[in-house]
Amino acid sequence: MASTLNLTLRVWRQDGPDDTGRFDTIEAPGIKDDMSFLEMLDVVNERLIEAGREPITFDHDCREGICGTCSLMIDGQAHGPQRGTATCQLHMRRFADGQTITVEPWRATAFPVIKDLMVDRSALDRIVEAGGYITAETGGAPDANLIPVPKPVADAAFDAAACIQCGACVAACPNGAANLFTAAKVAHLNLLPQGEAERYSRVENMVDVMEDHFGSCTNHGECEAACPKKISIDYIALMNKDYLRAKFKNRRYLSRNP
Ligand code: FES
Repeated sequence: MASTLNLTLRVWRQDGPDDTGRFDTIEAPGIKDDMSFLEMLDVVNERLIEAGREPITFDHDCREGICGTCSLMIDGQAHGPQRGTATCQLHMRRFADGQTITVEPWRATAFPVIKDLMVDRSALDRIVEAGGYITAETGGAPDANLIPVPKPVADAAFDAAACIQCGACVAACPNGAANLFTAAKVAHLNLLPQGEAERYSRVENMVDVMEDHFGSCTNHGECEAACPKKISIDYIALMNKDYLRAKFKNRRYLSRNP
């Protein structure tokens, strides 16, 4: 049977991008420990509305760990205290009765606050737009056996494709770097035969856009620890290797095809 928790929330409130923002203290009594963190915020918001106060703005969509929109910094940890778990799948049983929980938006220059706990993460979209696709003609699905892919390679591509673009890696990084995100988006295409044709132009374009918006990676590894899909920083090494080769290969291609 679910037990209940009496909690105190310190929640970041910010009226808009130009507001300086502040922490509000909000009491949250009688929270069931089998609720998700977002369900707890729903309850708090219903009570705020009933009291004639402004509800807390936060992002969410699927609530199944798929869409990556539920991006909250909980007690200083991206997505909270449970490793490999998005905020929407974090349960209140992870917290203790009487606990004070601090809830903030992602803190990164590339993610300006829109309101309260909601940030603008469209800088990640710019990276994907620069090469996170293949340009092969679409058509009927070919027989999968026509393109053999070694099992370890398919697994590695699949692990990279698990990235949900939540931005936790950026928020956790002391430099605000997006290298783990970019590396995952590069790897899930570059590792497979279908992505090979644009392998070097893809990595060069995506990294160049990444560097326009985000900080630089200095191998802290906080990104891997914060990732709700446990994506390995090994992918950053793969991306860096491809990027160095791209700087040579793409230049040689361009010199022959001006
Ligand atoms: S709401 Fe979609 S991943 Fe959490």
